[in-house]
Amino acid sequence: MAVLNEVSQLEDRRQPTTTLEGWQRFIAADPPRFELLPQQQWRQLGDPERRDYDEARIAHHAELVVVTTSAISEITTEGRLLTLLNQREIGARRGLIVSGAAATGKTTAIKQLGRFHELRTRNRYPASTDRIPIVYVTAPPKGSPRKLAMEFARFLQLPPARPRQNVTDIADAVCQVLIDARTDIVVVDEIHNLNLATSAGEDLSDHMKYFTEHLPATFIYAGIDVERSGVFTGTRGKQIAGRCSVITTGAFPYNTEWKQLVAGMESALRLHQHEPDTLVGLSKYLHQRTGGLIGTLSHLVRAAAIRAILTESEAITKSSLERVRVDYAAESATRRSGAST
Ligand SMILES: Nc1ncnc2c1ncn2[C@@H]1O[C@H](COP(=O)(O)OP(=O)(O)OP(=O)(O)O)[C@@H](O)[C@H]1O
Ligand SMILES: [Mg+2]
Repeated sequence: MAVLNEVSQLEDRRQPTTTLEGWQRFIAADPPRFELLPQQQWRQLGDPERRDYDEARIAHHAELVVVTTSAISEITTEGRLLTLLNQREIGARRGLIVSGAAATGKTTAIKQLGRFHELRTRNRYPASTDRIPIVYVTAPPKGSPRKLAMEFARFLQLPPARPRQNVTDIADAVCQVLIDARTDIVVVDEIHNLNLATSAGEDLSDHMKYFTEHLPATFIYAGIDVERSGVFTGTRGKQIAGRCSVITTGAFPYNTEWKQLVAGMESALRLHQHEPDTLVGLSKYLHQRTGGLIGTLSHLVRAAAIRAILTESEAITKSSLERVRVDYAAESATRRSGAST
């Protein structure tokens, strides 16, 4: 039964979190957990049971865990602090920018922040089911003000905009819903897609400013090297940035925190023949292989785990890790450092 539960949980998680429905499922879903059957019982599983059991384990490893890194602690603490400060602020509210290279855990960290806030709010006001404490949108590529406003409308599942409806009308409708729903945090992810340096961008930052001034909410932006991308460099962009704290994410140096991260992922593995602490022992190798990127590490470990189930080896070893391809950026970094042995 627990097995089937796990599979259906994974199905649920397939909804994108950029709609209210998908976001709420993300909040409601418990962190993935899976208990291995005792060795004897596992060996005696019949074919259909084994298929379900392995499917559930693959689902578990596809997601694995979110390890609380120092970046996650910093981002969730700062986000909470700003949200509390901003509740009393009239006018100039402060926001947060999370900036860093690709696959350094920005989205994961902000979603954790959003999740904590939403769970706290629901706990505090169990009766007000119409609250929407968090709105999470990703900025559309070549984003225009209209496209961005429509992303908000899409999250809120407002009726589709009519072709003639102008951006101010959409933005007004969005603002009204967010005020009524007592939204505290608005997250705009992939903010580098909005280039505010162009003239269309000036227009866009006007709209961003409009949103931030008309909503009693804390704005959190995340994107790739945001400070340098032009988003916060134009006149309006600078005004927005002037009110934001910046937290940067990056590759991990090879240190204790890296080892803890590896240990956190290893402890979530559910493989029948895995030798405990193998990955911790390989943490230097894993650092060289991934260039210290959390996204690459997570892919490497998850892929090796799923392969271990499919090949029935039921363990991750250095040679099984060697067989997993990682991304181009990490492979070329490894080649440059001459560390691939
Ligand atoms: N704290 C964490 N614990 C475990 N896995 C993590 C953690 N943070 C990130 N990951 C994994 O790393 C991968 C990349 O993370 P994420 O999508 O958050 O990065 P990002 O910086 O938003 O990347 P992008 O710039 O491409 O949007 C994800 O698959 C995620 O599961
Ligand atoms: Mg991201």
